[in-house]
This record gives sequence, structure tokens and C-alpha cells, in this order.
Amino acid sequence: MTRRKLIAGNWKMNGLNAALAEITAIGAGVAALGARAPDVLVCPPFTLISSAARGEVAIGAQDCHIGVSGAHTGDISSVMLKDAGAGSVIVGHSERRADHGEDDALVRAKAEAALAAGLRTIICVGETRAEREAGTAYAVVARQIAGSVPFAAQGTIVIAYEPVWAIGTGLTPTNDDIAAMHGAIRAELARSDAARAAVTQILYGGSVKPGNAREILALADVDGALVGGASLKAADFLGIINACV
Ligand code: PGA
Repeated sequence: MTRRKLIAGNWKMNGLNAALAEITAIGAGVAALGARAPDVLVCPPFTLISSAARGEVAIGAQDCHIGVSGAHTGDISSVMLKDAGAGSVIVGHSERRADHGEDDALVRAKAEAALAAGLRTIICVGETRAEREAGTAYAVVARQIAGSVPFAAQGTIVIAYEPVWAIGTGLTPTNDDIAAMHGAIRAELARSDAARAAVTQILYGGSVKPGNAREILALADVDGALVGGASLKAADFLGIINACV
């Protein structure tokens, strides 16, 4: 079973118009790799999506509303994202779960809306440090998978395993721990649909850098990376992309 690697950048609340030059440079670096290049995605803030989507790099968003349109001041729907040129969206990032109180049911509804709009949907899961130390990481992630993934929906679902304690901290789980969790996630997906589980890309996220990307991306059941800080500069992000080649 060969699953294509996906390297996705999550810019979070970073990036003004001047940063579009980084996306252009990422596109040039990916083009230089030709057919050896992995799938590459950049998820800038909403404000840059339509400008960024005019370039060569696939563009995604970092969140969407569960609805299509209506009286929801400040919200953005998946249909709007698609219309602006996004082909993908991240839902259920731990910063959304923590900062905005998003629970599994809401994340699942967002994923359903995104899939219905034809967006590739990256659903994030991952345990906190306290949960890892308490030995409940597998139970937490299994519960998030069961609650957040719309198994019946058509379309492309990607899972991102992002241990909360590894995000932006420079800490990462051991390679064995990453591989074991990714295997457990695939097994959890397979309980609903074995054929789909076999082709679903499972990304690792949390302090992925050019220096650790090659070993992480070589692990069993790791089909790519969701990269925060190191996706903001083309040189760093291309260092991670090149680790797939
Ligand atoms: P990081 O963020 O690469 O800066 O740790 C990853 C993420 O939150 O997606």
C-alpha cells in the first residue's frame, strides 16, 4: 500500500500580504523537485487565501463553520473557502478545541460541512501532556477519532495526530511512540471502514523541523506532516518537503 506523502503548512494567525512571497518561493522549490515532490499544502489565514490561491501551491484554510451561509457574524463557511480557491481545510486543531471550546461533535459537523463542499478535510487529534502522563493518550485519541470523524461522509479525510504538548514546544514523542500511535489510529479507522483506513493519510504534527523530518516521515503509518512554525519560511518548509525525496 503506497500512500502519497502530504506536507501541509499551518500558518495559524501569521502572515500579511508580504508573506505571499514565501508561498511563491515554496511553489518554486516544489516545482524544482518535479515528479519526486510530495503533495504540498499551505493553510494561510483566511485573509490571504484568495491571493495565495492564484499561485502554484495548493491552498487550504484552518477552520470553517458548520453551515453554508447565514447570520453568523465573523464566521466563514466551507463553501466560501472553496469559492476563494481553497481545496482543503483543517478542522479540530487543538488550538481551536482549547481556545474556542470546540468539542468532537462540533469538529465532526465542521468536517461534514467541509466534505460536502468538496474540500479535503484534515481532522486533528492528539492528547495533552497530562493525558500522556496519565497513560490515557490512546483512549483520548480513540475517542477523538470516534467522535470527530464523519465515517459515513464521502470525500477525502486526512487525520493529523498532533500531541498538544509537542505543538510549538520543540518537543516530540519518540519515533516509537509516533509509529505506535499512527498504527493505533489506522486500526481505529479500520474498525469503521478497512478499505478507507488503508488509503487514509495520517500526518504527524508538533515541532516538525527540517532536522527531524526525515526520520519522522520514514516511520510506519506516517504519511506526511502538519507543520506550524517551520512552514512560515520557504527555506524551512522546503527543508521538510525535501525530506520526503
Ligand atoms: P508546530 O505546530 O509545528 O509549530 O509545532 C504544529 C501545528 O500546530 O499544526
